[in-house]
Amino acid sequence: MRPIYQVVMVKAYDGALVLTDVLLLIFKIVYYICESVFSFLIPREKSVAGEIVLITGTGHGIGKELALRYASLGATVVCWDLNQESNEETVNEIKNKHRTIAAYAYQCNVSKREEVFSVAEKVKKEVGDVTILVNNAGIMPCHAFLDHTTDEIIRIFDINVLAHFWMLQAFLPNMIKRNHGHVVALSSVAGLRGLPNLVPYCASKFAVRGLMESISEELRISTKGRSLIKFTTICPYMVDTGLCKKPKIRFPEAMPLVTPWETASQIVMAQRRDYRERSVPQLWLTLNTMLRNLPDNALCCLIDFLDSGVEADS
Ligand SMILES: *[C@@H]1O[C@H](CO)[C@@H](O)[C@H](O)[C@H]1NC(C)=O
Repeated sequence: MRPIYQVVMVKAYDGALVLTDVLLLIFKIVYYICESVFSFLIPREKSVAGEIVLITGTGHGIGKELALRYASLGATVVCWDLNQESNEETVNEIKNKHRTIAAYAYQCNVSKREEVFSVAEKVKKEVGDVTILVNNAGIMPCHAFLDHTTDEIIRIFDINVLAHFWMLQAFLPNMIKRNHGHVVALSSVAGLRGLPNLVPYCASKFAVRGLMESISEELRISTKGRSLIKFTTICPYMVDTGLCKKPKIRFPEAMPLVTPWETASQIVMAQRRDYRERSVPQLWLTLNTMLRNLPDNALCCLIDFLDSGVEADS
């Protein structure tokens, strides 16, 4: 038996340690809240000049606008698309507008893992190490759940989710080796809230958020906070790209379709400011976070009032 005063001393010492930890934790939380208020007021955007940006789905829509935007900021742009013709148009447009910018077009079916790896190898040889990866390519078939064919459901997950895994497997190791890089993924407001006629699509976009959040946590914790690789997940509202064929919006003046150009410039801004998650417009993410706490019936009334979504494709 140890003398009682020793036991008391040890307990007091342990207690003091925990108390110090708690005080330190409170201090850090307050510090980082102040820091984020400060960077909200005076945002800093990192330069992308000289970075090698790879974007999937650059043949049209948001992907194309992203390629143009990154090129205008001085980045080398690597464009991947299934459709070689429209992809080369994007690259030619970049070269015509920005004569000093290097831009490359590669044809790739991102749902094929082997193809992703072989095209990635080519990019490494011909262009160099990709430092910013934008997983943008996606499809959005709209039907009632039971009208989706099995093949269609598999295709949605192949392109919207599994392709992100193959791209990360191909490009993340090099980013980790250099401890430098940024991964951007396109989710959707349909990845924040389930919507009718979009069951597989919503599930795929929720999956993207899960993938991005867990991979960034894994890197942060496994490197004890030393990882400098950033992750940004974007949730656009309905964008006027042709992906969303039959949008239904009760108040189109208050909730207009967003243009691909506007969406792309918001995405690039979010990436340059190292935001972890962002919706376009940002209001949707804020509203979603707040309104999720309403009672179910109240939330349903609000959703019915807004009466917006997409109708099934014919
Ligand atoms: C892309 O790859 C998938 C999976 O192998 C395949 O089912 C699909 O037909 C391919 N798409 C094209 C246009 O080649």
